[in-house]
Amino acid sequence: MRGISTSTGNIARSNQPEERIYSGPKDLSAPNGKNVTLRSLYAKYRAGEKITMVTAYDYPSAAHAELAGIDMVLVGDSAGMVVQGHDTTLPVTLDEMISFCKAVTRGASRPFIVGDLPFGCFEASTAQAIDASVRMLKEGGVDAVKVEGGFPARAETIRAISEAGIAVVGHVGLTPQSISKIGGFRPAGRTAEEAFRVIDDAKRLEDAGCVAVVLECVPSVVSAATTRELSIPTIGIGSGASCSGQVLVFHDLLGFLQHPHHAAVVPKFCKRYANVSETIQTALAEYVADVRSEAFPSEQYSPYRIPEEELHALRKTLRGSGYLNAADECMQGGSAATDSDSDDGSD
Ligand code: KIV
Repeated sequence: MRGISTSTGNIARSNQPEERIYSGPKDLSAPNGKNVTLRSLYAKYRAGEKITMVTAYDYPSAAHAELAGIDMVLVGDSAGMVVQGHDTTLPVTLDEMISFCKAVTRGASRPFIVGDLPFGCFEASTAQAIDASVRMLKEGGVDAVKVEGGFPARAETIRAISEAGIAVVGHVGLTPQSISKIGGFRPAGRTAEEAFRVIDDAKRLEDAGCVAVVLECVPSVVSAATTRELSIPTIGIGSGASCSGQVLVFHDLLGFLQHPHHAAVVPKFCKRYANVSETIQTALAEYVADVRSEAFPSEQYSPYRIPEEELHALRKTLRGSGYLNAADECMQGGSAATDSDSDDGSD
């Protein structure tokens, strides 16, 4: 009876399963309390409570973040590296980011969700930046966008996005989208001049309307000075404990990747809270062995049956159509393949 009627008597859309598991409808009283808003984030910030943030790029990572009670989810352009396997974040496109955002906003409704504006979609003009940000909110469903860089022209771009009514999270210190200029993923703010620039840029972003600023890979004293100077939350990554909150990349903190190459690029500031790659490798190796030895699928995992009379009819049709091998197989499979309970096998 799929696609005909639901238990509430409504006509179900035939392109949706009756039981929607993945995408809703959403219960507004989400697990772990009320939805996180800018207002609740600021209440936390003013109370001196740390803000928690993690990246997510798809439905399951977002659902896990929500279940864990994370305050903010960042759909980072780090997706280009940890999901797409590029060596930098530069190749990720706006369309790809929107697709990641859509999956994340299906998986999590309670956290405040921020989507990264990827390299190449906002630098040309303020109009381009506003258009890209509007798409991130309208199509991606995120609550805010994040923009890298705090120099004066970038701050003006951010001001324009903010004045269009869109919350913007800034990002200073190490800004991976500028790798072409900085020549590598290097910490920032280790000279007086550079450290001043981090603090000055962050302040400029606050003045331009940013609702929070990510500080990536700057010395603790510099992030502490920035946090003290600003009246908006700072979210640190590799920048010590004084920030108003912390963010880490989902795959890094869970120990997701296992590859000689990846072991080297997991940043040294990242604490690994799990070794998910080991669990995945063990499970996959067991699956491979089970398939090879035919231990899988056993009867338990071969649940579908055909009623005896249907099998009989099938045999006849096969024979009549000249499919003699198949007819013979149906004979041999006979009793194991049938089910007197006339289970239609649709579960
Ligand atoms: O893209 C990303 O994941 C980020 C974090 C590292 C802050 O920008």
